[in-house]
Amino acid sequence: MIIAIDGPAGAGKSTIARRIAQHFGIAHLDTGSLYRAVALEALGMGDPADPATAERAAKALDLSMLEDRRLRDENVTAASSVVAAMPAVREALLDFQRNFAQRPGGAVLDGRDIGTVICPDADAKLFLTATAEARALRRTRELQGDAGGAIYQRVLADMKARDARDSVRRAAPLVPADDAIVIDTSTLDADAVFAAALAAIADTLAVTKR
Ligand code: DC
Repeated sequence: MIIAIDGPAGAGKSTIARRIAQHFGIAHLDTGSLYRAVALEALGMGDPADPATAERAAKALDLSMLEDRRLRDENVTAASSVVAAMPAVREALLDFQRNFAQRPGGAVLDGRDIGTVICPDADAKLFLTATAEARALRRTRELQGDAGGAIYQRVLADMKARDARDSVRRAAPLVPADDAIVIDTSTLDADAVFAAALAAIADTLAVTKR
């Protein structure tokens, strides 16, 4: 069973993907961490905005970097959406993601293009979304434990810039697959999103079996 979960930053994808994977006893891959690791590697090599540097970083990707705490740093976050817009970077990461999805028993992958490009034949596709304000508020709380004005404004601006880059790029832009079930998480807590996601997966699997 392959479950694809896509959506913008801060919509709650990774938390829900982890819980769904645990629920079904299958593996989980947060594909955003791949682009973050490429960005970190490219920053170490020089300029991540240089396509040749980013491609070299993607081809040299060391999977042990997926656990690196620096992947969440602000400069790495910003650089990740820059390298993610490069077709050669996406191409270099394709096989790893597709092979991961083919694990015996199945897998849950979350990202931006899982239902559209990486696993177009996934058994269930969810697209989690939320207003930019709700997503920025969550991210601010993660960063500092409250929603202080200055940080919130910066997080909101960064989030909108990243949404724009991820959505308008030509290579695998962020769009829901035609057959994805869209869940708006703006006013839902993690338990409610989990329940909605499980219900959507059960519905999809029931329809496919029929
Ligand atoms: O989900 P995240 O914030 O960790 O993702 C980091 C960046 O990588 C984000 O700008 C979008 C990009 N990304 C992508 O283009 N395709 C994916 N499948 C996952 C992430």
